[in-house]
Amino acid sequence: MRQFISVEDLGDLRQGLQAAKYVKEHPFADQALGRNRTMLIVFFNNSLRTRLSTQKAALNLGMNVMVLDVNQGAWKLETELGVVMDSDKSEHLREAIPVMCSYCDIIGVRSFAGLADRDYDYAETVLQQFIDYGGKPVISLESATVHPCQAFADLITIEEYKTRTRPKVVLSWAPHPRALPQAVPNSFAQWMNAADVDFVITQPEGYELDPRFAGNAQVEYDQMKALEGADFVYAKNWSCPGVTRPKDYGKVLCKDMGWTIDAAHMAVTDNAYFMHCLPVRRNMIVSDEVIDSERSIVIPEAANRVVSVQTVMKKMLENL
Ligand code: CP
Repeated sequence: MRQFISVEDLGDLRQGLQAAKYVKEHPFADQALGRNRTMLIVFFNNSLRTRLSTQKAALNLGMNVMVLDVNQGAWKLETELGVVMDSDKSEHLREAIPVMCSYCDIIGVRSFAGLADRDYDYAETVLQQFIDYGGKPVISLESATVHPCQAFADLITIEEYKTRTRPKVVLSWAPHPRALPQAVPNSFAQWMNAADVDFVITQPEGYELDPRFAGNAQVEYDQMKALEGADFVYAKNWSCPGVTRPKDYGKVLCKDMGWTIDAAHMAVTDNAYFMHCLPVRRNMIVSDEVIDSERSIVIPEAANRVVSVQTVMKKMLENL
């Protein structure tokens, strides 16, 4: 595996889930694989879970780990091609990427969407440069349009908690004060479409996800109807993806607090588990009552971030 961006990069999904189960049960079994290998993780944006889970996974695999916060202590990086570099940006990614990659064996990159230019974001302009110019295996640690390590961890969690062979999983938009990227819902949708689940997306008008990710998922604009009989409720905010309203790409279109997942929403489900990638805004996305309930599995979901990224890194190490 040379890149981890999409569910397809994992290969056979059933085998990928079995590999994750093995990693979870035997976290230190592959320490020899990572000996004298270095993992570099590069952050253009903030992180708690990704930062720690990726380091933990690398250490479990016996790797050395380096972390670079691009905006703290490094030269300010230019990401656009063909520009006259007369601004405050001292170094171009074209040089920085091969330099960084000369110091490591695998590189992980967090680089959020700018939410100003849909074409720029959906071309994965920053991540793609790491793939094109680095020469090392690349893991998206949430890039402009995808968060595959999160979606893999989400699926691992659903597999662990499901009580039916084919559970009903509902991705529900929820309100947030700021414009957020579509990376988490995009990847969640892509992975659920590939998994053995009945998948429903519910969102206000204008929030339709890119068809490349939404695929054949059932879309239901009536949130309560969508939630009926659900086994898992995955709440997430995202900004306008610009599919049905191109001029509104990256904007907040709705602040209706009626979409906040509360006890009344959970009451129409089949005693569903509540999921969210975290960090979560309490009483915006989800009520205290729901996230603090025994049906909330946000903590084991976050813990599985180590398992998902370790499974991916192991596969990359085996192919170096
Ligand atoms: N879910 C997730 O990626 O969390 P962080 O932004 O804290 O890494």
